Amino acid sequence: MAAAVNRQVLLRRRPSGAPTPADFEITESPIPEAREGEILCRTIYLSLDPYMRGRMNEGRSYAASVELGQVMVGGTVSQVIESKSPAFAKGDFVVGYDGWQAYAVSKGAGVRKLDPAQAPISTALGVLGMPGMTAYVGLLDIGQPKPGETVVVSAASGAVGSVVGQIARIKGCRAVGVAGSSEKCDYVVKELGFDACVNYKSQELLPALKEACPRGVDVYFDNVGGPVLAVVLRLLNQNARIPLCGLISQYNATELPPGPNLGPILVNRALIKGFIVSDQMDRAGAFRADCARWVREGALKYREDVVEGLDAAPGALIGLLAGKNFGKLLVRVSSDRTRGA
Ligand SMILES: NC(=O)c1ccc[n+]([C@@H]2O[C@H](COP(=O)([O-])OP(=O)(O)OC[C@H]3O[C@@H](n4cnc5c(N)ncnc54)[C@H](OP(=O)(O)O)[C@@H]3O)[C@@H](O)[C@H]2O)c1
Repeated sequence: MAAAVNRQVLLRRRPSGAPTPADFEITESPIPEAREGEILCRTIYLSLDPYMRGRMNEGRSYAASVELGQVMVGGTVSQVIESKSPAFAKGDFVVGYDGWQAYAVSKGAGVRKLDPAQAPISTALGVLGMPGMTAYVGLLDIGQPKPGETVVVSAASGAVGSVVGQIARIKGCRAVGVAGSSEKCDYVVKELGFDACVNYKSQELLPALKEACPRGVDVYFDNVGGPVLAVVLRLLNQNARIPLCGLISQYNATELPPGPNLGPILVNRALIKGFIVSDQMDRAGAFRADCARWVREGALKYREDVVEGLDAAPGALIGLLAGKNFGKLLVRVSSDRTRGA
């Protein structure tokens, strides 16, 4: 039976630098009612992702900011608890974009049904969802990895990076990660099968990466920017490719950091290309077919970092921006009865 109220997390004020709990406000309001053509959903999992930091800022980016006083945006896996839409039935599990709230009404635009028998429903927010697809299109379409080449990826234990390195291995490449702790590096090598992983917090990056990449770097999948990018540029091979996926090292910055020296891009005729996964939806079918198969076959592993309850979401997003998460960060907003959790 539904609880009597809808719990929501709103953006209370715009952070300066790293967000703090005071930038968020947790409120309760009546559960909305579904009108003709609409569905009412109970949120089971909320995805927490680095892009949310950008949505808290004022000003133009590739997507609109969250307004002050509005519910924080975010991908969700939910169950339909009331349907006045012919497209959905009560009980359906769906992936959508309901944001940081326990219940939401929608017309079902952009909402996709999930089959819990095919894969755990939470994977629709991670390895078989937006982060997985980011890895797939960025690596395969821009990185164009060829057997025998070396692929380096930063934030290697995370939702995107972990998939990048494993697909690189599937494609016959040497996969080298960069991550922020020895536990993360151990996991990337021992569990995910990367060839090597460098801890950028405890190792001197240039010599460590040189040793991990004896034949240089053909593809650098960049999730972080900053000093890691500056070092990897020095190891590029001719005609290297750099899918520029994210710049998490500067999401909390109050001033723009100095850029890296781009000389190696010119000298090595390298390609650097930014991309936003939502522009690549024509690749969703191929992504889901390949990655769901690889997960089933055990060639593509994933790790989830699940925090309990919506009230934990602000602290967990703050932690993600400081490297505290280990795996795809999710909030369990209500019980996942498909897993008995
Ligand atoms: N272009 C697109 O369409 C698209 C789509 C999805 C995601 N992205 C980007 O992909 C990147 C990874 O996202 P994700 O969802 O997979 O997150 P994630 O890797 O699961 O979590 C973020 C990780 O980033 C690392 N990090 C945090 N602060 C850092 C810093 N100052 N310097 C270096 N690393 C730092 C931390 O790992 P360590 O402990 O290893 O440092 C942290 O655990 C982000 O930049 C995100 O914005 C882009």
